[in-house]
Amino acid sequence: MTKSTLTTSAGAPVESNNTTKTAGPRGPALLEDYQLIEKLAHQNRERIPERPVHAKGWGLQGKFTVTHDITRYTCADVFSQNGKQTEVLSRWSTVAGELGAADAERDVRGFSLKFYTEQGNWDMVGNNTPVFFVRDPYKFPDFIRTQKRHPQSNLRSPEAMFDFWASQPESVHQVTILMSDRGIPTSPMHMNGYGSHTYSLYNAQGERFWVKFHFKTQQGHQHHTNREAEDVIGRTRESYQEELLKAVSAGNFPKWTMYIQVMPEEEAGQQEYNPFDLTKVWPHGDYPLIEVGELEMNQIPQNYFQMVENAAFSPSNKVPGIAYSPDKMLQARVFAYADAHRYRLGTHYEALPANAPKNTSVRHYHKDGAMRFFTNDFGNPDAYYEPNQYEGPAAKPEHPEPPLRIEGDAGRYDVEEADVDYKQPRALYDSFDAGQKQRLHSNMAEAVGGCSEGVKARWYAVLEKVSAEYAEGVKQAVNKR
Ligand code: NDP
Ligand code: HEM
Repeated sequence: MTKSTLTTSAGAPVESNNTTKTAGPRGPALLEDYQLIEKLAHQNRERIPERPVHAKGWGLQGKFTVTHDITRYTCADVFSQNGKQTEVLSRWSTVAGELGAADAERDVRGFSLKFYTEQGNWDMVGNNTPVFFVRDPYKFPDFIRTQKRHPQSNLRSPEAMFDFWASQPESVHQVTILMSDRGIPTSPMHMNGYGSHTYSLYNAQGERFWVKFHFKTQQGHQHHTNREAEDVIGRTRESYQEELLKAVSAGNFPKWTMYIQVMPEEEAGQQEYNPFDLTKVWPHGDYPLIEVGELEMNQIPQNYFQMVENAAFSPSNKVPGIAYSPDKMLQARVFAYADAHRYRLGTHYEALPANAPKNTSVRHYHKDGAMRFFTNDFGNPDAYYEPNQYEGPAAKPEHPEPPLRIEGDAGRYDVEEADVDYKQPRALYDSFDAGQKQRLHSNMAEAVGGCSEGVKARWYAVLEKVSAEYAEGVKQAVNKR
């Protein structure tokens, strides 16, 4: 095979890629060896800021296929007919670890999907848990601070984590899941994904329904104990990437079944819990799972950096037929992600290959800035503002979102949910068999055991409200250590 010619980034043939141009065989180097300067300069610019959270991730490309009709709930084109297929990019991640963190660590996993629909991109930016640690966006940056490194020791700090969680008892639901068997899945293929928030769907008649999104693994749940995870990490820090590459290369494409839970709009407010509170699930007995389709991730991206590191997922990316809910955490996320992307990737991040819509064209009036590697002259360079007389694109609300019914006096409401905060974690705890409970107690004891007596006592008081057996189990496991 003849080798193709190496070129400069401007396309000219390169004379040498191995030998510096010097004054005589013993040097020094000549400044005119521009290719050397460019090579070194590019190396200096190869890193971009890592994501402030969810920095370590793994991604695949694949497709989503509709298997059941949900057009009575939504006019979103992606769900318009049985058998319809849509290209998808996935990225799974751990939350707290940095870019080089080991994969098999106990942590919540991110579960991000970008559906390249014919109406633009729809991003489902969820986790492998159906709930979250906090329900007010003010608390998110502080929560994340407790997950990251201590400013002096530069070590992770269980004291900070449990100090914070003990002051936010609504976190006990998510902490219970985190410390349960499902806290360390063996790979992204062996975990569920949840949209977690309540979103809404609206149909062609303008009726709105509250909705929760679920993606259930078809590979079955598989998880590591703490000891198994230590062994895995001792062998390899990249176990998830290795598992995904192995499976897809062998043609064993991971699949998930997508379901929704649907709540009629007028039913919100009739439950004991707030259906827009991200620390709560909707019990399946009240809102059963409705099957929608199948997600199959079957392709390893040609270039990890281009498709996975450059991927910019955001809850602000939604399409007609899918909308938000009054969840204030969700509103904060609608702002936070696009802002993070502008900082991390640059102004025109949506034009990068991972993010650019694949099944519709982009027509907007945003103008210049770094990396404007697209045109938007719309066939007439005079059409650079709107409205204009040149037939430039104009907004056309074909599927207007029905008005969102909200009410209430503006204020800051720190609503304490009293026993409601503890009921759902209690239901989960009660569903565990003896072995699951024992492992939960022991995992939590390993995490909280080294904290100060004050923090431990405050955390036991939270567990006590969930279940006396739970609190006692953890206390005993701590004392045994
Ligand atoms: P169900 O018995 O119908 O559902 C129990 C759910 O718990 C199943 O979805 C199951 O997932 C999931 N589950 C089992 N073990 C764990 C674990 N270690 N960590 C996280 N989830 C787990 O009961 P309800 O709907 O009434 O819910 C009871 C409790 O189950 C809730 O309070 C909540 O803590 C938890 N849960 C509920 C979900 C919901 O949307 N209703 C979703 C996930 C958890 P799978 O089917 O994949 O095995
Ligand atoms: C990543 C903010 C809550 C799931 C991020 C990023 C930010 C952020 C800034 C980095 C984005 C980037 O640089 O690409 C917030 C804020 C939250 C919040 C402000 C609450 C107010 C949540 C919740 C979930 C979630 C509730 C899940 C239900 C994720 C995921 C990623 C992420 C999966 C990684 C996306 C990817 O794969 O690139 N978050 N987040 N976050 N967040 Fe959140």
